[in-house]
Formats: sequence, C-alpha cells, structure tokens
Amino acid sequence: MAIFSRTVKMILVMGFLLATAVTCQQLSPSFYRNSCPQALAVIRNVVSKAVAEEPRMGASLLRLHFHDCFVNGCDGSVLLDDTPTFSGEKSAHANMGSTRGFDVIDKIKTAVDAACGGAIVSCADILAVAARDSVVLLGGPSWTVQLGRRDSRTASKDAANHNLPSPAADIAVLLSNFQSKGLDAQDLVALSGAHTIGLAQCRFFRNRIYNGTSMNPLFLSPLQSSCPAAGGDDNTAPLDVLTPMSFDTAYYANLLLNRGLLPSDQALLDGDLTSRAVRQYSLVPLLFSVDFTRAMVKLGNISPLTGTEGEIRQNCRKIN
Ligand code: HEM
Repeated sequence: MAIFSRTVKMILVMGFLLATAVTCQQLSPSFYRNSCPQALAVIRNVVSKAVAEEPRMGASLLRLHFHDCFVNGCDGSVLLDDTPTFSGEKSAHANMGSTRGFDVIDKIKTAVDAACGGAIVSCADILAVAARDSVVLLGGPSWTVQLGRRDSRTASKDAANHNLPSPAADIAVLLSNFQSKGLDAQDLVALSGAHTIGLAQCRFFRNRIYNGTSMNPLFLSPLQSSCPAAGGDDNTAPLDVLTPMSFDTAYYANLLLNRGLLPSDQALLDGDLTSRAVRQYSLVPLLFSVDFTRAMVKLGNISPLTGTEGEIRQNCRKIN
C-alpha cells in the first residue's frame, strides 16, 4: 500500500513538473544551440551593417525591444502591422511616426530564416539580440541574451497607449509604470541610460524647453532654434547632447547639469532613490554597465510566450 501511494505521488509530481515545463518554459541562452547555431552571428552581421550605414539605427533597435517588452511582454507584438481585426501598436502615441528600424528587423529575419532553413528564430528574440548587439556596437556593455521567446498572434494599440511611458511623466508615474513591469527605481534609472544614444523629436521635448525652464541659455538657445514654439514637430535633437552616438554615462552627467532633453529624463532627479542612482552612475561607469545589463535581462524576461504559446512568425509584420 505504501509503495502504491509513493508511486502515485511520484507520478503526480512528474506530471506536475511536465505540465509546468510545457506551459512555462524558461528562457535560455542556448535555446538555438541545436536548431540554429549560426542564428546569433547572422543577427549580429545584419545589425553591424545597418549601424555602420546609420549609427542612429542602433538606438532605434534598442528602443524597439523596450517598446515590445512593455506592451504585453516581449512577444514581437510591436512589429505587427494593423489588420482588419486589430489596431496594432505601431499606431499608438509613443510609436506613430517615431519607432523605426522595422526594415532592419525584416532584413534580419530573412537572413536568419535563410541560414536556419526555415522560421526557427522568433521575431521577439531577434529584437532582444539586435538590442544587445546595437549597444555593443555603439561602445556599450555586453550581456548574455536569454532566448526562446515566441511571437504573439495579436497586438493592441490600447495596451501600447496605456503601457508605454510618456515623456511628460513625473517621477511618481515613471516609478509606478516600471514597477508594474517588475522593474524597480534602480532599473528605471539604469534603463533610462539608453537615452545616451539616439534622437528625439521636437514634439516630445517642446514643453521642456519653453515652459519657464531653468536650463542654461547656452544649451537652451540651440535647442529652441531647432525646435520652435510652434511648428517643426519632427525636427530632432540628440537625447545626450555631449556624446549622442556613443553608449556611455554622459546622459547622467547631463541630468546633473539640468540638460536632460525629455521632461521624463530630468524627472529622475526628483526622487530620492532615483537621484542617488543618477549620481552613482555618473561617477562610476562600471556600476552603470553592471546595472544596465542586469536590467536589460529583466526587461527581456517580461512575460514572454514560451513552449507552445504563440508562434514563430514567418514574417515579423504579420501573424502566420
Ligand atoms: C523612462 C521612460 C521613457 C520614456 C518616457 C521614453 C521616451 C522616449 C521618447 C519620447 C523618445 C524620442 C522618440 C522620438 O522622438 O521619436 C525616446 C527615444 C529613445 N528611447 Fe526612450 N523613453 C523611456 C525609456 C527608455 C528605455 C527604457 C529605453 C531602452 C532600454 C529607451 C530607449 C530609447 C532610445 C535608444 C531612443 C532613441 C531612439 C532613436 O533615436 O530612434 N527609452 N524615448
């Protein structure tokens, strides 16, 4: 009887473990080791060419991964074009006329599928790897990317509008937005360091440079000439005025000089924990590298689809 009940227990435990493995498989860096060992090299190659052609593309690809993960998890949903049955994320406020790099993702997907002999690598994983490669190519730190995400079969404009942070957000809103994704104050400051590269459009920072700002005029006047009080909405300025295309800690030095471009950048100085982190990162670049890479892994782990969930898209812009 004892042997019987022990056997039943063992079967139950094994069944539970199997079910858990099927429904919530873990991501793993070696996910494509057998199915497509050349995948990461192929992605790096296409990203390198794209960034060599246009350094800003590294920033755009990094941002795409962030915008993917913050809306229903890292599931490639940001890449889907609108369909008659859903309004996708591309038309949400934060993405419309702003997120870029979709053609590069298409190129990567074509190259990877050709190398793997079929659609083995998900679009969500391509975004995660392209983000890492972009940071490295622009002089930033590297990290091991977890893999095995699958692609969503839907996307939501409403979810994107609700989840992607606004550049007008104050520190309380930023903290609660990041907390809702399992990211803490330190993660918020470390990840905002991504604004050490890339550009922002006038429409996103106009309020910062006109409404009674206390910015140094030497910094303010060139910004105001490129971003007039009315018009010129899509004129751009570097998010990091000191070293716009190099992934470093100058972003934090800028904040301490009141030279953050977006209101949400400068707002990091309004919280106790966040302003302490800004000071730490501006002083100790190694600390920023450690925290940024750790936070990128956390970002990439937000609610992935795994196992038999979702699909591996043939074309990143549409479901199979
Ligand atoms: C903390 C909240 C954040 C807000 C409110 C925010 C907002 C923005 C805005 C408004 C732009 C300019 C877009 C444009 O002008 O078209 C931008 C650019 C950018 N963001 Fe963020 N962002 C945030 C966090 C992040 C995070 C966590 C990352 C990545 C880990 C990131 C990466 C970037 C990059 C690299 C660019 C430049 C893109 C390019 O040049 O194409 N941002 N962000």
